[in-house]
Amino acid sequence: MADQFDVKLVEEAKYYTPPPEYRKNANMKDYEATYQEFLKDPEAFWASIAKELHWFSPWDKVLEWNYPYAKWFVNAKTNITYNCLDRHVFNHRRHKVAVIWRGEKGEECIYTYQMLYRNVMRFANGLKKLGIGKGDRVCIYMPMIPEQLIAMLACARIGAVHSVVFGGFGVTALNYRINDTGSKLVITADVGIRRGKSIPLKTLVEDAIINAPTVEKVVVLRRDEPKVELLAGIEVDYHELMEGVDAECKAEVMDSEDPLFILYTSGSTGAPKGVLHTCGGYMVGTYYTSKVVFDLKEDDLYWCTADVGWVTGHSYILYGPLAAGATVFIGEVVPDYPDAGNFWKLIEELGITIFYTAPTAIRMFMKMGEQWPDKYNLSSLRILGSVGEPLNPEAFEWYYKVIGKNRCPIVDTWWQTETGMQMITTMVGEKMRPGFAGKGIPGVIPEVVDKSGKEVKSGTLGFLTIKNPWPAMFRAIYKNDERYRKYWQTIPDVYTVGDLAVRGHDGYIMILGRADDIIIVAGHNIGTAEVESALVSHHSVAEAAVIGKADQMKGNLIKAFVILKLGQKPSDKLLHDLMYHVRMTLGPIAVPAEIEFVDKLPKTRSGKIMRRVLKAKELGIDPGDISTLEE
Ligand code: WT7
Repeated sequence: MADQFDVKLVEEAKYYTPPPEYRKNANMKDYEATYQEFLKDPEAFWASIAKELHWFSPWDKVLEWNYPYAKWFVNAKTNITYNCLDRHVFNHRRHKVAVIWRGEKGEECIYTYQMLYRNVMRFANGLKKLGIGKGDRVCIYMPMIPEQLIAMLACARIGAVHSVVFGGFGVTALNYRINDTGSKLVITADVGIRRGKSIPLKTLVEDAIINAPTVEKVVVLRRDEPKVELLAGIEVDYHELMEGVDAECKAEVMDSEDPLFILYTSGSTGAPKGVLHTCGGYMVGTYYTSKVVFDLKEDDLYWCTADVGWVTGHSYILYGPLAAGATVFIGEVVPDYPDAGNFWKLIEELGITIFYTAPTAIRMFMKMGEQWPDKYNLSSLRILGSVGEPLNPEAFEWYYKVIGKNRCPIVDTWWQTETGMQMITTMVGEKMRPGFAGKGIPGVIPEVVDKSGKEVKSGTLGFLTIKNPWPAMFRAIYKNDERYRKYWQTIPDVYTVGDLAVRGHDGYIMILGRADDIIIVAGHNIGTAEVESALVSHHSVAEAAVIGKADQMKGNLIKAFVILKLGQKPSDKLLHDLMYHVRMTLGPIAVPAEIEFVDKLPKTRSGKIMRRVLKAKELGIDPGDISTLEE
């Protein structure tokens, strides 16, 4: 990690200041003053935000903190869909556009708040017809289409806990998530579309439920003509489910601490972790940050390019922006198809005002060249955002100049699946520092500390931690309390994030990347252990070790070292078989870019693979202390 630490950057403090109107018109006009207001009385601060939302009945207490277990808005009752839908439908936003969708061929679909509301209620009643109710887990495996948002909202409407699985995951990953949550129902589509090709989601679901005893039914949205056949007794048509049901479905009264969803994130060891979020606090945290970080205004058209299958999509496509009454654009689109101008064309045509994407995408845009954005009129853009991994200064400057035309603030937002909401950024209107995400959002106290929890000097590498509980924090790792507690016990009395960071003299925080065995590839978290176990599950592999290898475009690539079983010979065919095997097991995002066949792996005396040594060898640098090394 230390090899990536850029001392020059920490010292040379270079800033960009957005035009003064931004600050003047911002939803949060004075960052410092707001932060002080929060510090003076954190609970009063959060309560005043929560009061902007609708609660069926109020809380007895804002926070109950039994380290490391938090309850927010104790005993209050609400429903997040009431705040995302009813609250708007019964006021001036009834006919405001909630969602605009575009497909790859330019197909378009528009939902006003009223239309979304009616669809969600019907689908929710359809779910009830299938016997789904409060507390039941429902797995959603769908492409980026409005029906995915409807399915999620319909679950939340009736208190069912959704577990969305990104459509790019493979059968094993899907099967694991279905079984770990004990999902009764899977909602899918016949196909997803990507670069002109169909991805057979329904077929993948059929394979994934072979060993999934809890699944009773599968709801299938059939997009293709002629319609695919449904398996009798198990598969139910999405539209038929919505027929003959009541148009009304009252929002289930949810306790603030009732579960809202489970979403899996890679663990540094072993299986993926089911991050559990609850209703009240998550709603307040995502609503608040959507409003102040993106500075949402009534006439904005907001586009977050993430997939709803990631937490970015949960918090900043669906729940946060809709709670704030925004108009959201979503697309089953990619940046470079049909050509490399696709995103810029959409921004021009639709008049997108806020654009939130990932550094890996920005670096890809840089590589494709300025001629693409330069063909289009991007003057509607007002605010740019970034999330998922460090936004390196070169990418920041390109984004600022070429896309933002030296005019749009960039919010580089640091957060995690576990944090539920954005935690560190530079507020709209504040001066920005390339390479640095910024400071704690009012409500959040980030610190950069050593192993004992002592704050390190500015300019010194340390562990990023969060000192205080926050409303949108995860409440559990599903069915694994030990793994939940680990986040809070690594460094005494704080939440340990797992990232390395440096604080500049000005208080701005630079995030350097993961401190553990997670590799961020094109913005996706991949656990080395998951890829290793996928490789080892192939019949010819004895052992495997996986590391991240720095890559200009993707941040990191996956490199695997593989020891074959006796009698197996390395060959190109085997190499491709292994890549295919990982693709089928975990999905395309986890496929190693490089596989090297080796005879030995460096290990500690206790048998733990020393990935650090492999990494050092790859980079041609000194691996440091290897005294515990056996081979
Ligand atoms: C990890 C969390 C948050 C939604 C997407 C990823 C890295 C995230 C930034 C940023 C530097 C970042 C961290 C973090 N990360 N945003 N702005 N600057 N690093 O969610 O899959 O839970 O991954 O992504 O390493 O710990 P996630």
